[in-house]
Formats: sequence, C-alpha cells, structure tokens
Amino acid sequence: MKALILVGGFGTRLRPLTLTLPKPLVEFGNRPMILHQIEALANAGVTDIVLAVNYRPEIMTAALKKYEKEYNVKIEFSVETEPLGTAGPLKLAEKILGKDDAPFFVLNSDVICDFPLKEMAAFHKAHGGEGTIAVTKVEEPSKYGVIVHKPDHPSRIDRFVEKPIEFVGNRINAGIYILNPTVLNRIELRPTSIEQETFPAIVKDGGLHSFDLEGFWMDVGQPKDFLTGTCLYLSFLTKKGSKKLTPTSEPFVHGGNVMIDPTATIGKNCKIGPNVTIGPNVVVGDGVRLQRCVLLAGTKVKEHAWIKSTIVGWNSTVGRWARLENVSVLGDDVTVGDEIYCNGASVLPHKSIKANVEAPSIIM
Ligand code: GDD
Ligand code: MG
Repeated sequence: MKALILVGGFGTRLRPLTLTLPKPLVEFGNRPMILHQIEALANAGVTDIVLAVNYRPEIMTAALKKYEKEYNVKIEFSVETEPLGTAGPLKLAEKILGKDDAPFFVLNSDVICDFPLKEMAAFHKAHGGEGTIAVTKVEEPSKYGVIVHKPDHPSRIDRFVEKPIEFVGNRINAGIYILNPTVLNRIELRPTSIEQETFPAIVKDGGLHSFDLEGFWMDVGQPKDFLTGTCLYLSFLTKKGSKKLTPTSEPFVHGGNVMIDPTATIGKNCKIGPNVTIGPNVVVGDGVRLQRCVLLAGTKVKEHAWIKSTIVGWNSTVGRWARLENVSVLGDDVTVGDEIYCNGASVLPHKSIKANVEAPSIIM
C-alpha cells in the first residue's frame, strides 16, 4: 500500500522548538513525532511512503532516510517549491499515489493515536465510497475540521466545516484519511486545502465516510496539547503494559507513566512522575521533582529544581531550586539560573534567564 504524510507547514505554533527542528522531527515519547506514523504505516502493510515536505527539506531527508531499512519501507521526498497546502501535495505526488487503483493513506504529521489503520482500510473497502476520514470527539471543536453526518446513514458525511466559528458538532477530523486515487482528479497543482476544497467536493457527491477512532487522539502541534498528548500516550503505554516505560518499582518513579531513556542519569532522592519523558543523555541532579513534563535530549536539571507542565528543549540547563510551570517551553540550549521562577515562559534558543518570569510571556 501507499501513503503520504503531510510534513510541511512551518510549525509556528510549536515554537520555540520548531526554530531548531522541523515539527515532525521533534521528539514525542522520545522518538521523532513522524516515526510514530512511519511505524504505524509499516505495521499496516504500507511499503511506499511519500513525505510531502516544504520546510527545510534537507534536515528531513538526512534524518529520515535511515528509517527505510529499519521499517522496511521506501520513503520518497516530494519537495514543494512553494507551500501547496494540504491537498496540493497529493497532486504533486500523483505519479506515486496514482500508480495503481489501490487506495492510499494520508496523514497529518502532528497527530498521535493508536493508528488503527488496518481496520480503517477494511472499513473503507466495505463502504465503497471515495474516501474515509478518521474522526474523534473533542470538547473544543473550533480549532479543528468538524464533520456532520447524514441523519439516515451511520458513516456518510453530510458536511465538512474547517475551523467552524459557530458550533456545528463535536466530531472532528483526526487528520488520518484513506482515499481512492480518483480523488487526485479533483485536485489541481496549486496551493489548495483538502479540508476547504477537496472534502466539501467529495461530500457533495456523497462519497466521504467517517471512521470512529477508539481510544486516545491528540494533535500535538502546540505546547499545551503536546503535554496533554504526552500524558495520553504514556497512559496508553501503561495500559498496554509496555516495556518502553520505566518500571514503577524504581524508587524515584511516582505515579507511573514515566519514560526514561537508558542513557539518562537520575540523581538521588528524586521524585519523578506521573507523565514524564526524559530523553537521551539527560542529567537529573539530586532531589529534583518532575511531573507532567518533557525533558528533551541533553538537558541538565540541577539539584532540587521543580518542573511541572513544561517542555525543556535540547541541551538546556535548569538551575538549582528553579521552578518551572504552566506550559513553560525552553528552546534549544537555554539556561535558567538558580532559584529562578518561570510561569508560562516561552524561551527562544540560546537565551539565559536571570530574572523571574512571573506571567506567561515570550522571552527573546
Ligand atoms: N507538505 C505540506 N505543505 N504540508 C503542509 C502544508 C503545506 O503547505 N501546510 C500544512 N501542512 C501539514 C502540516 O505539517 C500538518 O501535518 C498538516 O498539514 C495539517 O496542518 P496543520 O497546520 O497542523 O493543521 P491544523 O492542525 O490546524 O488542522 C488540521 O488538522 C486537524 C487535526 O489535527 C486539519 O486537517 C483539521 O481539519 C483537523 O481537524
Ligand atoms: Mg495540526
């Protein structure tokens, strides 16, 4: 089978992390976000993956070529010279996606779930329509694409409304599709939106169906959601009894849902968890308290620091007795001084924080 992952966009909502790495390469659960998708596609029998890229393609190509062997898939880069939106990239990759009559998957690169792709493909085949969208329920539908059903049909979509201003429903597009190659005939090679142009057109012809996602789902394209998504993902791993998690028998693990890379070192008398990921080569000093946070590779947390609801960017240093909370995000190579308090600080790469950040703000 074939698949295309939409990897473009500038990832501005995940700044300052995306000032250093393209969004799909930012580690989620200690692995580049996009690896979760490549792995799921490979497990569903996909052999040809197109990565639709426009933002810093050279970094992406270098980082991802090596996964071809690991997952036994062919990864091709389809590079846009101008951002083609969410539909244009499908047309650009028409040679690959349309090479046979079989349907293909399309994934947004920033969504995390259990990826029931095999079930979705079987469902798509069974209803015989032109496309299937995975849907999930959310409490705040306005930042997503909302789908509305025909009252007389369990899965046929009646309306697709991207980012509705008024409430039309709470079942949203989860950013995972399976489409017949005929959809490519509906798309022109220009910047165009699958949500605003292609889906409404298929809906009009009665060919778009929804597939209900079971379990967790999150678009992790912004810091607050990245943290929530991390909690959901770690809980999911706990439920599965995954070996990826640090055993709760470790004396420093508190409340479970903790994932620590084997190369990280943890000091004495720490209290870590629940919902923490600690990346490669991280050094955590004595007496540190960590909860609901992400420490990316190479960070250093000094003694007695207290970190909650925070993403600490690569190679950053958090000082002794520092306190970070309320969706603080440190970019790459940031230094937070001893005893400093950060409340919702978003700190650009290579900065040094020497005074308290009392209220949420961007530090540049
Ligand atoms: N190649 C390419 N080119 N990819 C792009 C471009 C582009 O010009 N613009 C955006 N993308 C990619 C992004 O990298 C992302 O993977 C995907 O397309 C969706 O873009 P986002 O910017 O993340 O959109 P969103 O989160 O506001 O909304 C989308 O996702 C929601 C689910 O998370 C829509 O598909 C909504 O309908 C949906 O509910
Ligand atoms: Mg998104």
